[in-house]
Amino acid sequence: MTNKLEALRARMTLPVIVAPMFLISGPDMVIAACRAGVIGCFPAPNARELGTLDAWCARISMETRDAAPWALNLICHSSYARFDAEIEIVKRHKPPLVITALGSPARVLDTVHGYGGLVFADVSRPVHARKAIEAGADGLVLVSAGAGGHTGSYSPFAFVAEVRRFWSGPIVLSGAISDARSILAAQALGADFAYMGTRFLAAQESLGEPDRKAMTIAVSMEDIVTSAAVTGVPANWMLPSLTAAGFTPEMLRAERKMDFTSADKAKPWKNIWGAGQAVGAVTASEPVTDIVARLREDYTALRAAFCKAG
Ligand SMILES: Cc1cc2nc3c(=O)[nH]c(=O)nc-3n(C[C@H](O)[C@H](O)[C@H](O)COP(=O)(O)O)c2cc1C
Repeated sequence: MTNKLEALRARMTLPVIVAPMFLISGPDMVIAACRAGVIGCFPAPNARELGTLDAWCARISMETRDAAPWALNLICHSSYARFDAEIEIVKRHKPPLVITALGSPARVLDTVHGYGGLVFADVSRPVHARKAIEAGADGLVLVSAGAGGHTGSYSPFAFVAEVRRFWSGPIVLSGAISDARSILAAQALGADFAYMGTRFLAAQESLGEPDRKAMTIAVSMEDIVTSAAVTGVPANWMLPSLTAAGFTPEMLRAERKMDFTSADKAKPWKNIWGAGQAVGAVTASEPVTDIVARLREDYTALRAAFCKAG
């Protein structure tokens, strides 16, 4: 496994995974990320038809041959109807990394290990981290407080330290990592990679509509609201999109999913928009390659400064 991880790392120029985002990440974003030297990833459901998923995977696989590895984000929950069909596509296109969400990674291990790939499991609590390790996951994505979309509630300081007590394998840290300083901080905490979603929400390659990108650029951390009222699970959302959909502060405090009469205006993810607490770092809609180049430049300078100071 160490060799496989080293093989992934050898093809990267910055320890970053551009995190999968529903309705945002598609092949253009993944290819741009990989060509810029970081891992690009997209959630399989972003391809509405299985034929589209097959075509996206084929294109990404071909266009990232000489670039950093790519990753596919799979839903593993037993209620997810497309799972078996998606696994067939995984067998065909062999993403070097599969990142599982919602459900045990056990369902994908044989397939992915069979072609030499790695499986990382997305978890937001130590108990889920332990279960993923027991199931045989190769790595963990720790979703901490401040993350965009379905968020964690633990501080990254405590979460990484806790998991490092029982896991020495790869850790990806997620939650409000939007600049080079935070990438370096994630490594200082004991993580191997930073998982960055919000920083790429408004990128030129993002599938998000122009209004969503404009809102991402306009808001700051005080406009990010954590609420379970939208999907039934705590998630971070941009307040202006919640207000436009008819949510009141009282509704947002509810710990369960709230029903709406104006359902058209209140579709989670489609017109209620998620973002993380580090949204203030997004100040323009730029190409992924520019964002990554600046992160790398800042990271290299900062690391050199820290080494010199130490
Ligand atoms: C709009 C949005 C959609 C997301 N959709 C997914 C998803 O479909 N699957 C998933 O595993 N994570 C999803 N996430 C979570 C990200 O993969 C990642 O954990 C998170 O963005 C990291 O925090 P950050 O946004 O502060 O960088 C989403 C995040 C955002 C902001």
